[in-house]
Amino acid sequence: MRTRIALVLAVLVSIIALSACGATGDDTLKVAILAPLSGDVRTFGESTRDGALLAIEEWNEAGGVLGKQIEVIIEDSQCNAEAAVSAANKVIDQDGVKFILGEVCSSASIPVSEIATAKNVLQMSPTSTNPSVTVNEDGTTKPTIFRACFIDPFQGAVAAAFARDNLDAQTAAVLLDQGNDYVRGLAEVFIAEFQAVGGQVVVQEAYTGDDQDFSAILTKVRDANPDVLYLPDYYSTVNLIASQAKERGIEAAMLGGDGWDSAELDRSVVEGGYYTNHFSPDDTRAVVQDFVSKYEARYGSTPDALAALAYDAANILFQSMVNADSTEVDQVASAIASGTFPVVSGEISYDSQHNPVKAAVVLKVEGGEIIYTDTVAP
Ligand code: PHE
Repeated sequence: MRTRIALVLAVLVSIIALSACGATGDDTLKVAILAPLSGDVRTFGESTRDGALLAIEEWNEAGGVLGKQIEVIIEDSQCNAEAAVSAANKVIDQDGVKFILGEVCSSASIPVSEIATAKNVLQMSPTSTNPSVTVNEDGTTKPTIFRACFIDPFQGAVAAAFARDNLDAQTAAVLLDQGNDYVRGLAEVFIAEFQAVGGQVVVQEAYTGDDQDFSAILTKVRDANPDVLYLPDYYSTVNLIASQAKERGIEAAMLGGDGWDSAELDRSVVEGGYYTNHFSPDDTRAVVQDFVSKYEARYGSTPDALAALAYDAANILFQSMVNADSTEVDQVASAIASGTFPVVSGEISYDSQHNPVKAAVVLKVEGGEIIYTDTVAP
């Protein structure tokens, strides 16, 4: 239902954009949304699309950006490198897009960033937290690539410190998908940081994205009996691993990252667990409550972090065009790099690697509810 409403809205936004200007010429500002709208992490894409569309509708209703109506092109880039690359090439080469919001997943955003860099297109990923999205292997910053979220070296350190200080954990087990840039990166940071604050990693085991049966590695976890079990994967995989961990009687407190953030996280199997995230709808700041009520009025559901970050990403992009008084990619990029943006997920300014500096929240799964627990500033 929510999907259908959002699709209808997407079409309406495009029609409004078209009819306001008569044609898709220079009078419209084309923006692509690349997000997974099918498959295992479909809710990531739906929230991202809905958050971005809410911002786009607000700008269009207020007269557009520098007098231009925004025309949206939405592609299902599936949270995977191959589909995201073809979606990026399609929107750039066929649709003439110069501005991309997306992808959601780091493994998809990294290859898109290479295409966008080569073609001088501006990419703003709302949610991809792996450092390599905005930074080249030689450490230089990709000039036209930005994100609206914090990065995993921060998120992983917050989780490690929380495990030590708040859960009093001495030992941890870490399970990771080596083939997923986000999962691997976040696991590596957690391991290094947990050891740096005096913890011991007693199990560290890899699986692949296709695995369904985790009994072999979960037996090792059970035998080691760690205080915490770190599962830095997306909700669909976490649901599988956590339910099999429960079946084996593993009692370690489960810990995760932003990838847990979904209405389809199985709260019963991660009961008592914690995860780091970008946003809590319980945050009392006016900008948050204003966004939450607008989103609920529009879609009939509470926004998650992906919706909030997509709303922020779109607003940062359009506000920067206004600040630059231009829709030229290079000028908009400098306005983002030098600006300050009081958006929903925090008051953002950018560091030299095009990463926003802002706080993380820690959420707890308790009694089937998601409870705000803590805010950690960088
Ligand atoms: N941070 C994840 C990645 O980089 C994406 C994500 C963000 C998923 C926020 C859920 C919530 O792949």
